[in-house]
Amino acid sequence: MKKIGLVTSGGDAPGMNAAIRAVTRVACSQGVDVVGFERGWEGLLTNTFWRLTPRNVGGILHLGGTILHTSRSPEFKKKEGIRKAAETLALNGVEGLVVVGGDGSMQGALELSKETDVFVVGVPATIDNDVFGTEETIGFDSAVNTAVTEIDKIRDTANSHDRIFVVEVMGRLRGFLALTIGLTVGAEVILVPEVPYTLESIINTLEVNGAKGKKSGIIVAAEGIGNTHKLLKEIEEGAGVEARLSVTGYAQRGGNPTARSRLLANLFGEKAVELLTAHQGNRMAALQEGKVASIELEQVCSNTKQLDLNLMRLAQTLAT
Ligand code: ADP
Ligand code: F6P
Repeated sequence: MKKIGLVTSGGDAPGMNAAIRAVTRVACSQGVDVVGFERGWEGLLTNTFWRLTPRNVGGILHLGGTILHTSRSPEFKKKEGIRKAAETLALNGVEGLVVVGGDGSMQGALELSKETDVFVVGVPATIDNDVFGTEETIGFDSAVNTAVTEIDKIRDTANSHDRIFVVEVMGRLRGFLALTIGLTVGAEVILVPEVPYTLESIINTLEVNGAKGKKSGIIVAAEGIGNTHKLLKEIEEGAGVEARLSVTGYAQRGGNPTARSRLLANLFGEKAVELLTAHQGNRMAALQEGKVASIELEQVCSNTKQLDLNLMRLAQTLAT
């Protein structure tokens, strides 16, 4: 293995830069050259890349975002796009490719590996933590902590004013963020896309809490549960409480990665290079039972990661 490529794709996640640094430095320490394709799969469609060296990836370990930039690329999803990407790899003598991204990017990696002899490996990085086969993704812990820091502050003002706050967190399709955030801020109610809720059950919880003297409360809602503005109005009218909405939004996607996200980036980066230098493609670095491992991309892409509903029950017990 003389030359590998690196791409960051899909939604950015804090720790992607740490992964770029780790892959580059581990690979270069073994005499392998590294090129970074720009703007996700777009870089492979337009043949846009630059050489990554141990020196030019210096000073990025603690930075959010990705120095390679990222994108969602509808063109890459088409057969023609994937063929073009495979040609770019061949043209530049790239023998292995590291794809840093979420579940969509892993799907892309799998499809690309069917069109090329280049060894393709994945590094799971998304704030959503919704990639099958790994207990955690790079960026998840950072996004959780960004929201927790904000909600702890919201709790102060909620208490002072005896108000209910609906806090909308990221997660259009999955509720891993909302669940972990809700559990760790002691939310009175957690709403995730995977579990249907009724307005009545929310109102009932607020009324039971009110009767116990708990006049304020936090409802953590994943963005994917629907219109939180509408929900807020319904709660105000239905429960007769004063309520406010706060949206954490895209701040959760940026900011300095936590130590945990950096650690995962370092370990997954090393694993990805180890797989490539052993000529093992079609795999993704993963955390399994707390240890760094790897799993076939085929398995990653054909399964759905399940939300731990026991955590939901625990959150309810703890928020009494
Ligand atoms: P993430 O990787 O964060 O989940 P996306 O779901 O947007 O982000 O996926 C990133 C990119 O991967 C997409 O814009 C698309 O180019 C590519 N991709 C996603 N799904 C597929 C697929 N089934 N086949 C080929 N490419 C895909
Ligand atoms: O996949 C990460 C994520 O931030 C989700 O939580 C969110 O629903 C989505 O990306 C937003 O996508 P976009 O960046 O395309 O607005």
